[in-house]
Amino acid sequence: MIEAQGKLLVHTKRRGALTGDLFGLFFEDLNHAADGGLYAELVRNRSFEFDPIDRHDYHALTSWEKVERGGGSGVLAVEDSHPLHSRNTHYAVIQVLEEGGGVGLLNLGFNTGISVRQGESYRFSMYAKRDAAWDSQVDIRLEGADGTVHARTALCVHSAEWSRYEAELTAEATDHSSRLVILSHAKGKLCLDMVSLFPKNTFLGRPNGLRADIAALLAEMKPKFMRFPGGCLVHDGSLNSEDRNSMYRWKNTLGDVSQRPPRRNNWGYHQTLGLGYYEYFQFCEDIGAKAIPVLPGGYDPHHKRIVPLEELGPWIDDALDLIEFANGDATTEWGAVRAELGHPEPFGLEYIGIGNEEVGEPFFERYAYFHRAIREKYPDMKIINSSGPFAAGTEYDRGWKSAREMGSDLVDEHYYMSPEWFLANYHRYDHFKADEPKVFLGEYASWGNTYYNALAEAAFMTGLEKNAHAVGLVCYAPMLCNADYVNWKPDMIWFNNHQVFGTPNYYVQKLFMNHQGDQLLHIEAQGFADSPHQVEDVPITGGITLATDRCSARFSDIQLINNVTGEVKSYEGLADEVAPAGYDAGQRLLPSTIDLGGTGWDRYTLRCKAIRTGGKNGFVIRFGVKDEDHHLYWEIGGWQNQDSTLCSRVGGRSSCLTQSLFTVEPDTEYLLELEVSGRSIRASIDGMPIHETVDQLPMIEPLYYSSTVEHATGDIIVKVVNVREESVTAEVELEGMGPGPVAGEVFEMSGCLPTDENSFDAPTRVSPKERAFQAGSGCFTYSFPRQSITVMRLRA
Ligand code: AHR
Repeated sequence: MIEAQGKLLVHTKRRGALTGDLFGLFFEDLNHAADGGLYAELVRNRSFEFDPIDRHDYHALTSWEKVERGGGSGVLAVEDSHPLHSRNTHYAVIQVLEEGGGVGLLNLGFNTGISVRQGESYRFSMYAKRDAAWDSQVDIRLEGADGTVHARTALCVHSAEWSRYEAELTAEATDHSSRLVILSHAKGKLCLDMVSLFPKNTFLGRPNGLRADIAALLAEMKPKFMRFPGGCLVHDGSLNSEDRNSMYRWKNTLGDVSQRPPRRNNWGYHQTLGLGYYEYFQFCEDIGAKAIPVLPGGYDPHHKRIVPLEELGPWIDDALDLIEFANGDATTEWGAVRAELGHPEPFGLEYIGIGNEEVGEPFFERYAYFHRAIREKYPDMKIINSSGPFAAGTEYDRGWKSAREMGSDLVDEHYYMSPEWFLANYHRYDHFKADEPKVFLGEYASWGNTYYNALAEAAFMTGLEKNAHAVGLVCYAPMLCNADYVNWKPDMIWFNNHQVFGTPNYYVQKLFMNHQGDQLLHIEAQGFADSPHQVEDVPITGGITLATDRCSARFSDIQLINNVTGEVKSYEGLADEVAPAGYDAGQRLLPSTIDLGGTGWDRYTLRCKAIRTGGKNGFVIRFGVKDEDHHLYWEIGGWQNQDSTLCSRVGGRSSCLTQSLFTVEPDTEYLLELEVSGRSIRASIDGMPIHETVDQLPMIEPLYYSSTVEHATGDIIVKVVNVREESVTAEVELEGMGPGPVAGEVFEMSGCLPTDENSFDAPTRVSPKERAFQAGSGCFTYSFPRQSITVMRLRA
């Protein structure tokens, strides 16, 4: 028998914090997560409302083509003079000049086309009117790209007024590149709008429903909550709710889908809003997840649009009305709307988020008004504040300060980092207190969908779980991605028009949700020798370069000072003009960086003056440069020239260590100072400190672990992550379990290469295996395989 290298001691009678609603989901309509994704509508641009505002190459007939068969001819146009509804103004008009074998239009669907499966039924509907030939039939067909008919039916459009028509089609073949074809066989005008096709088999068979395969993957996770409808989607927009590119206003998303306004999704596409707030609440209820809606806080940090305080009333009303919509009985104004939509019982909303990763005082000033109004009317509602898109720094601190002052229940933290950052920050929440606002880790992911990413996230998640006293809610982001419409990577679940697969990250999330347990058990590691894998506290040494971000700049008075010996290196004679690589007016090649060479010093200060001479944004100082993929950098005036950030880059993946607001002004000289001591970094501008942080290296723990008990079953759950390259054998002692044998199940992810990923062809290559487990007593020896994630579910 292999000797144990240490012990994991689980005190089954020493119970800690309740885990509550810890692990859940975050839904944002990016990557075509809704339209062309979870929302099961198969017709793309069903209401002919696509517009260049949504995306420069969109138009009202995007995804539609004219069809002329057998000598038929006609004109396909878009009109708006007699619309179906004032919010749905465009409709298609087919003017048949020669009937031939039929004239009409076809829809190309999403991805390769409309996916149909043999024997499956589809619900077709459309609004239509015509000016003649009332008894002539309109053919509705599902056809392959080569014209093979997979299903057909016919309808008579018998009115000159808009009417809704529907029919059911059953496919005779499976074809993922089908088209929906509508053909008229009579001369005259046929007007069409809201041309829709849904699989009959939506998730739980709901009308206007969700794609069953994607929804099932989500339901199988058993999430405790779902945050929706986004992300940047919530606050990136104009202030007028009637604008096509307005911030996400929930009231626009209710009711008859033909009357929901077309919307420009800030991720650069059209959003039908067919998946709206009612559908989100319904889906949450269907999968047993608590709904966590996030509302805009009257401030768009992307474009600095700010609702004047005296006009904030309707925005606050939106929040109060939403709570009434979710929880009010049918006698209330908004409760009645919900009842009318088909859900007389309240949805039981417990949480509401105001704002999404806002940066800047205008948001927090406005948050206070929302907070007070909600607290006063709904004292039990848990209110979520925001702390920006950075894991540390002045904006992060501002969010937490606001949350403490206001008494927010939770603070939404967001960060996307390297796997190494997650390992290095395993103890991030250890010092957080139970009597403060709780952490809502509302968006996080390590950069990638490999097994290694999932492993690092699993290790980090044991740290989240162990700190359930302070960490209230956690969800990975983003959740869904249509492989042909990618806005953001990585993502938890990938799909096309007929396939879906969970990434290794998905399976980790699922394991933690399926086996969350209800209450922490005290667990400790004993006796493990110091890890030979612990990364030594190596100072930050290596190359230093000065560069710019979308601008030209002049650097001068460059000095590198050894803070131990006092030695000073000056860089007289180095070209000091930096511009984006290119040519100046005299066709001379401008350098894109100034290379100061390398340093082996472990305590040094880099000092220089910098002035932006043209363009936007500001300066980038790289230090500790090993290569393109391994270095640190100080970015001054990055993104929208509103931040200063200190970042580390490991394996080509960046982590923002800390951030402060800072804008580089043109023709203004700045004194930049960067002080490095070991792995500590301080930065100042014009003598004013702006950053202080530590670039922690991952300290590979012998094992990462947590333990909970599930109240209903009494099951003891132990989660153990081994990120090392060899197995770790431990004695596992379930103290207090009694002397008898224990049995249960083990769920294990192992045996994969760190680079392994799942795909459409190998959707479960990286996924857990389940097996039965038995031991003679509550004290047994267990080998945790190299690079593995193990969840034990045990009972006496
Ligand atoms: O998850 C993708 C985006 O990341 C979200 O929209 C935003 O909140 C964050 O910046």
